[in-house]
Amino acid sequence: MTTYLRNIWYMAGWSDEVGEGLLSRRIFDRNIVLFRTKDGVAALADRCPHRFAPLSLGEKVGDNVVCPYHGLTYDGSGKCVRNPFSDTIPAAARVDAWHTLEKHGMIWLWGGDPKEANPQTIPDFSMVEDNDFTRVVRGYTLLEAPFEFGIDNLMDLSHIEYVHKGSFAGNGVIFSGKHTIKDEGNTLRSNWWMPGVKAPPHTVGVYPPDMETDHWLDMRWNAPASMQLEIGACPAGAARETGVIAQQAHILTPASPTTTHYFWATTRYHDLDSAETDDFLRTLFAQAFDEEDKPIIKAAYDNLEGQDFWDAQPLSLGIDAGGTRVRRKLEAMLKAERTD
Ligand code: FES
Ligand SMILES: [Fe+2]
Repeated sequence: MTTYLRNIWYMAGWSDEVGEGLLSRRIFDRNIVLFRTKDGVAALADRCPHRFAPLSLGEKVGDNVVCPYHGLTYDGSGKCVRNPFSDTIPAAARVDAWHTLEKHGMIWLWGGDPKEANPQTIPDFSMVEDNDFTRVVRGYTLLEAPFEFGIDNLMDLSHIEYVHKGSFAGNGVIFSGKHTIKDEGNTLRSNWWMPGVKAPPHTVGVYPPDMETDHWLDMRWNAPASMQLEIGACPAGAARETGVIAQQAHILTPASPTTTHYFWATTRYHDLDSAETDDFLRTLFAQAFDEEDKPIIKAAYDNLEGQDFWDAQPLSLGIDAGGTRVRRKLEAMLKAERTD
């Protein structure tokens, strides 16, 4: 059985996914129903303890959810507040509830005891916050592999020249790049620095394609799998702040032991404020994540045929150090929770 970290924030979805209705989402191998109340977003186990109907098939009435089968009604804390057949509510009529918070247009769900939830530890994604989506394009895909395989992919961008031939490949510039890992405890950085290369694609429309630039890809990780990528380029030798910078979120949430929610967001590549830019980015990213990353991640995972990742003795090339460190950190965090 897969064990998941409890005392950590998981992205449960985008804020605007939870409107008037009920949203069912599988998170760390639990079916969870999300709905809006006056206090925020409620997150309850999506299974009525009477005859196990999914509450997400029921109805939201005020701040409560009514079971679709026999009408037991639960509030946002998971407590049964109405039994249509009696004035007595059985003590066992309650469902698990999780604490949530909304930040940067995302719903964050605390996996453990609500009393331990610390809003300060939600990673900063203000760089992709955009209330009316004029600045940011978002998307979602479901990876068919455990979330650690998605982390391996994102913390090691050396794959872009091979996997992303149809989207992000950058004429081999990554081969001349310098890769560094910075371990800051709860934060791990996996950064690529590629000085003196031709203007990368995200600068299109700003720099001439032949211009010599310094290019960087800075990836930040926070547990369990909340990653943020800065893609930048500036005229060679200039200060980075003067450059063209795109900010991205790559946030993975385990759905089940073999499936992973992949939420992504990117600021537009440049200042062209048009639907055309959005379409271009949506098509490019869908190609990159759905048609390029997703199949290779699944194929690699399937190829283990159920064998444990470490038992298979993965070869180390150095470039993969980010993913390896994260796996080790997650293992240490899990161990620490178990011995609490
Ligand atoms: S299954 Fe929910 S009230 Fe019966
Ligand atoms: Fe990729």
